[in-house]
Amino acid sequence: MKTTASFLRVIGFAILAFFLLELTIGSGEQWAIIKYPIIWAVLAMLLFFAIALETIAAALQRILFGGLNPEAKERYLAAEKLREQNRFGWFKRKYSEMLGAKPVETEQEIVLDHNYDGIRELDNKLPPWWVYMFYATIIFAVVYLVRYHIFDGTDQREEYEIEIAQAKAEVEEYKKNNKDLIDANTVELLTDASDIEAGKSIFVANCVACHKDSGGGGIGPNLTDDYWILGGGIKNIFHTISEGGRAGKGMISWKTDLKPSEMAQVASYVMTLHGTNPVDGKEPEGEVWVDENAPVDNVEVKVIDSTTIKIEMNNEPVVDDLRAEGK
Ligand code: HEC
Repeated sequence: MKTTASFLRVIGFAILAFFLLELTIGSGEQWAIIKYPIIWAVLAMLLFFAIALETIAAALQRILFGGLNPEAKERYLAAEKLREQNRFGWFKRKYSEMLGAKPVETEQEIVLDHNYDGIRELDNKLPPWWVYMFYATIIFAVVYLVRYHIFDGTDQREEYEIEIAQAKAEVEEYKKNNKDLIDANTVELLTDASDIEAGKSIFVANCVACHKDSGGGGIGPNLTDDYWILGGGIKNIFHTISEGGRAGKGMISWKTDLKPSEMAQVASYVMTLHGTNPVDGKEPEGEVWVDENAPVDNVEVKVIDSTTIKIEMNNEPVVDDLRAEGK
């Protein structure tokens, strides 16, 4: 018994020492014990001292006990025994108090009069642990109500929105720093004047030979009208520039000459040419291209009179306004 106790004390001391060292030595994300292996040596020393102390204490006790007269020995043993019995007494008492159950011997006091075919009922009190927990929920509810419904605490919806806004900002930041991570599926129309300018100089340097300064077309098709051979919109245009046109037509793949960010810039510049209607523009080739994913706010519905409405698409196509005859 004695040896188990000192064994436990030594282990407990070692664990305490370990956590104190971890807490007090700043080692960033890493465990201090991994970052500074010398801690192993310190712990080993402390463990050694603890064992030595325990051994010395036990030896002293044995010597002192040996020096007592028989009567005192008996008294000492009795006191030891009592101490052993009362160990954890406080916890044991509290534990049974919290259960709140009557001991079996006194159940007689709380049995109810009624006899249900031989089955009788005990009128036990609610266990205190349960009652206290119930009170705690009431207090919690009041605090919650005041904080979130009377004062303006951030509720789940607001927390969600804050996190989304933060994530969006991070994504923006990431995109800004990693402009070349785009491809035809993720590219987005650039609208910054600096990007359009850069796109224009790329266009002038590489594309005008076949598409003309104005984009009106020469060897290559007209880039300013609503008709596209390979599809309009930023994603298709990016794809055409990156992968080239149909074989043998003359539009090469530019992805070895231009970085993805540059292809996005020149594609965005090409988008700005739309509708400029240059005088020397080539005849349309291909099909009218309508963006299926165009945001709805590009579409304007005008009521002309009670039988006619006019739908205007502000972006594309500019060819015809769609007219719909109402009832
Ligand atoms: C050597 C001539 C030539 C050069 C240089 C050239 N293109 Fe083209 N481009 C063409 C031809 C030809 C086509 C038609 C391809 C087809 O029909 O498949 C075309 C098609 C396109 C299309 C698709 C048009 C449609 O109707 O779908 C886009 C967009 C385009 N080019 C952009 C560019 C850009 C941007 C550059 C410069 C980086 C460039 N081109 C350089 C000849 C050229």
